Amino acid sequence: MKVVTCVAPVNIAVIKYWGKRDEELILPINDSISASLSTDIMCAKTTIMASPLFKENKFWLNGKEQTFDSPRLSNCIKAIRARCDGALPQFTWNISICSENNFPTAAGLASSAAGYACLVYALAQLYEIKGEISDIARLGSGSACRSIYGGWVQWHKGDLPTGADSIATQIAPADHWPEMRIIVLVVNDCRKKYSSTSGMKKTTETSTLIQHRAKNVVDQRIKTITKAILNKDFESFAETTMKDSNQMHAICMDTFPPCVYMNDTSHAIVNLVHSYNEYRKGQKVAYTFDAGPNACIYLLQSEVEQFISVVNYVFPQLAGVEYYRGLSLPNKQLDQKIV
Ligand code: DP6
Repeated sequence: MKVVTCVAPVNIAVIKYWGKRDEELILPINDSISASLSTDIMCAKTTIMASPLFKENKFWLNGKEQTFDSPRLSNCIKAIRARCDGALPQFTWNISICSENNFPTAAGLASSAAGYACLVYALAQLYEIKGEISDIARLGSGSACRSIYGGWVQWHKGDLPTGADSIATQIAPADHWPEMRIIVLVVNDCRKKYSSTSGMKKTTETSTLIQHRAKNVVDQRIKTITKAILNKDFESFAETTMKDSNQMHAICMDTFPPCVYMNDTSHAIVNLVHSYNEYRKGQKVAYTFDAGPNACIYLLQSEVEQFISVVNYVFPQLAGVEYYRGLSLPNKQLDQKIV
């Protein structure tokens, strides 16, 4: 029997992925960039056991047994096995997958990215696969390909119809900008009304703004934010991050029927951040919102205390505040046993 256990981080995009050009292969219409958050508060953890004695394949998520036949899970397993040396004994053994997300207060953050990144990474360890695997994590959930790496990560949309070049690469490691912090303001921890998958499908089918974004906006933003990250230019980083979140949500409103993810509290947080930045005479804090009302705040360590006290004063009713002391190191394997 062979057992591997791995962890993978959650990532928060600063240039958003929204819209696919290929639903099956999960190929995006534009590049995106994110930071992988330190795994001290929140991460996905997966243990995979392979044994010649297992009669069938099994999958548990957060303690509940799941079907093994979901198309995204099957696609990941098929793609990993296609890269495995068929002569390895474990290639023919059945497997048991146990995945869990250690999310403390249902933080309302996308769990699928960390979950699929962890699953694919653990499978790669099990089958002793070296080399690129972010294209396989992408088959589980697009944003999962970015969680394969720590630090600052870019998902290149790629041009090939096979998706072979739609992969993630690291722009800068976690310790490149050690003062960077992330705070998640949990506005609501309920399940969202429309998933990212269905929301972005509707957008691609009905929005005209999204074409403007893909053609005229994202490439320049990718260049600007990469430069800002490499030069540790927080002002430029913050402005680009906020503009890109706003554009993604404008496109969601341009979808028909509209996908409304932000609520009144989210908009009040946006206003608070802009007032705070005006008072501080510069872009000291940046918000970004994914497919839900919770705000992810990027800021430098020097700003944390003051900003949190303002948030606590203005929004005493928030469902939670998660504080990340930096970015994640590369994915790691915690344990490996051959029994
Ligand atoms: C708003 O990766 O969850 O978080 O590829 O359909 O699984 P699928 O979608 P998913 O979408 C994430 C969208 C986002 C923006 C981002 O993370 O870039």
